[in-house]
Amino acid sequence: MSGADTSEQSVRVDREAAIAIVTVDRQDALNALDVATLTRLRDELVTLAADDAVRVVVLTGAGDRAFIAGADIKYMSGLGVDDATAWGSLGHDAGRLLETMPKPTIAAVNGFALGGGCELALACDIRYASSRAKLGQPEVNLGIIPGWGGTQRLARVCGIGVAKELIFTGRTVDAEEAVRIGLVNAVHDPVLDRARETAQLLATKSPVALRVMKRLANRALGGDHADNLVAEGESFGELFASEDAREGLAAFVEKREPKFVGR
Ligand code: HXC
Repeated sequence: MSGADTSEQSVRVDREAAIAIVTVDRQDALNALDVATLTRLRDELVTLAADDAVRVVVLTGAGDRAFIAGADIKYMSGLGVDDATAWGSLGHDAGRLLETMPKPTIAAVNGFALGGGCELALACDIRYASSRAKLGQPEVNLGIIPGWGGTQRLARVCGIGVAKELIFTGRTVDAEEAVRIGLVNAVHDPVLDRARETAQLLATKSPVALRVMKRLANRALGGDHADNLVAEGESFGELFASEDAREGLAAFVEKREPKFVGR
C-alpha cells in the first residue's frame, strides 16, 4: 500500500481537557479514507488508547457534508488481492481500536457515513447523528463487501434482519430511520455538541469502572452467556480493590460528589 503522505492535515486531534476529538479532514473527497489518512487515524487511535489523560474519544468528520464517505474508491479501483487484504486489515485495526480501547468512543456522524465510514462509526461505543446524516453500506453497488467490520457489527447493533437488508441492498438510511433501527443513539444538531456533552459526562465517571464495563459489554453478544456472567462476577469483586470504587461508595455515604482518579 502506498500514497502521498498528506495525512498530517487529514487527521486532526484536538484535546479538550480529558476529551480527544479526532477529525478526519479530506473534504474534497467527502472525508473518504486513503492509505495515508487511515494509517494516520490508526496511529492516532493507538496513541489515544494508551494515554490515561484521555478519558473519552470522539470521532467526527470535517465540514458539514460528511463524517467519512467510505474507503477511497479511486485507490481501491487499482488493488489486487494482496493489497486489498492489507487494506481490509488496516481498517480492521482502526475499528478494533475504537471498539476495544479501554475508554468510551463516540461517533459524531455529521453527514455521509457510508461503507467504511459507517463501519468505523459502528465500531464506536455510541453513535450520534446530525439530522442531515446518511448512513449505509453501499459496497454491494461496487461489487465488493463491507470489509472493515460491517458484515459483523451492523448485525450486532441493529439485528441480523436489518443488517442483511442494508448490506445486501446497499440502501442508505437517513437520520430518522437510523435512530429508529438503533443504528444511532440519537439525532441532534449540531451533532458534535451532543457528542461533547456525553463525553464530558463520561469524563466525570470512574475510568476504572468504564474500562471494565466496556470489556464486559463487548462480550455480551458473543461467547458463552454463563461464562460472561462469571467474568462479570469476578470483575465486580476485583473492582473493590480500586481507589475509584472506594471513593464512589464513600462519596455517596458522605453526601458529596466523588472524584475519580482512574485507579
Ligand atoms: C473516493 C469519494 C468517495 C469515496 C466521495 N468521493 N466519496 N472519493 N472515495 N468513497 C469524492 C467524489 O469522487 C467527488 O470528488 C467528491 O468526493 C464529492 O462527491 P460527489 O459524488 O461529487 O458528491 P455528491 O454528488 O453529493 O454525492 C455524495 C455521495 C457520493 C452520495 C456520498 O460521493 C458517493 O456515492 N460516494 C461513494 C460512497 C461509497 O460508495 N462509499 C463506500 C465505499 S466502499 P471528485 O474529485 O470526483 O469530484 C468502502 C469499503 C470499506 O468504504 C471496506 C474496505 C475494505
